[in-house]
Amino acid sequence: MNPATAWAEREVAALREQDAAHVWHPLLNHRSLAKSPLSVMVQARGCTVTDAGGKSYIDAMAGLWCVNIGYGRKEVAEAAYRQLLELPYYPLTQINPPAARLAAKLAEILPKGVSRVWFVNSGSEAVDTALKIARAWGKLRGGRHKIIARYQGYHGATIGGASLTGQTHRRRQFEPLLPGIIHVQAPYFYRSGARTEEELAARCAEELDAVIRYQGPDTVAAFIAEPVIGGGGVIPPPADYLKRMREVCTRYGVLMICDEVITGFGRTGEMFASDLYGVRPDVMTLAKGLSSAYLPIGATAVTEEVFQALNAEGDPGFLQINTYGGHPASCAAALKNLEILAGEDLCANARKVGARLGAALARLRDIPSVGDVRGVGLIWGVELVEEDGAPLGNDAVGRILRYAREEGVILGKNAGIADGPSNTITISPPLVITGAEADRVVEVLGAALRRHMSERTGG
Ligand SMILES: Cc1ncc(COP(=O)(O)O)c(C=O)c1O
Repeated sequence: MNPATAWAEREVAALREQDAAHVWHPLLNHRSLAKSPLSVMVQARGCTVTDAGGKSYIDAMAGLWCVNIGYGRKEVAEAAYRQLLELPYYPLTQINPPAARLAAKLAEILPKGVSRVWFVNSGSEAVDTALKIARAWGKLRGGRHKIIARYQGYHGATIGGASLTGQTHRRRQFEPLLPGIIHVQAPYFYRSGARTEEELAARCAEELDAVIRYQGPDTVAAFIAEPVIGGGGVIPPPADYLKRMREVCTRYGVLMICDEVITGFGRTGEMFASDLYGVRPDVMTLAKGLSSAYLPIGATAVTEEVFQALNAEGDPGFLQINTYGGHPASCAAALKNLEILAGEDLCANARKVGARLGAALARLRDIPSVGDVRGVGLIWGVELVEEDGAPLGNDAVGRILRYAREEGVILGKNAGIADGPSNTITISPPLVITGAEADRVVEVLGAALRRHMSERTGG
């Protein structure tokens, strides 16, 4: 607790009143707030956020998997400030300097050949744009329009994103969703029954092949996948899974869309997970770490082939426009963010601290409620189970997260199976996290899990 940063109680009470009366918060029933009030977060530096009472927490989720360079970077704020003074806004119907520079920078660091960038404001919008690009591309190929996605995948909040998402609880409230979207299994080894990861990868590739043939290859426009599933319980794929899925897509002339909204910009220890797993997607969706969330920005990047297909002689081009796409201040912040990511070699830190974090998390496997530990780089999941292996319920997981928070560590939770409770604890810290901070995260999680175990056994 740091009283120097504590806000006056009266001020906090007034904020709480305004919030309670007018802000609609995500993913909760507001009636629950009487029992579990939200924190008022007022400041953040590095990996640490501080609430209005002056209590500090290690933010082991980097906000929502996004503050890759850590909090409190003055250079990013200054880059945005300078740009706001110079040219606060102009639509991308014309050229603006930060957007041109950022697109060129992205073309330099994206997988070879992915070189054309459409700017948006969020991951969801990047995904919807990818979907529309796939459909527009498919129209030129005899009406291919279906998109294949995966159970457990998460692709965003818009109707397009929700339709591609493969989790029951994120879809059901909004049905009927978009037609023409088909889901296949995710490479979820833990409950797959496969003996080896290679077997699972082969099984997934065979299923994709069979589904495309069954639907009719001439009707399928694209296959979309997060290289590492994030919001579906952190599911890293078998080493050759993406290559095998790429082969199937190529065989049938289907576009491969890699949704790198979480995995992009160093999260897995490489700049992009497509690099880590050795594939070149046709389309990529980006957001979060693109600006480390200092300002909202996303992008849909495509290969020159896809771009050229939509810009053939006599074609109208891609008929979509958004007011804030390529916003100069967001692009300036993103450019500075990319400079920091490269300058401080945060991919290397993600690999180094990620290995230490993974090894420490693996040692929690001796706690009976830990069913699985999985991850890569700085994205990890700890799937929690009941004694019989069934997913641990939401209430118990909520308590474990509260215990960790009391000890100053913010963790996340997501569903482990497509129609199950949020029984996977997620860890996705800023890429600047130190070894000592990572150790503390695991120490607190271990203590919270042991407390849960002792309460369960009445000990
Ligand atoms: C893989 C993936 N795609 C898309 C999105 C949607 O991004 P946003 O919340 O910025 O709209 C998310 C958000 O978590 C995501 O994880």
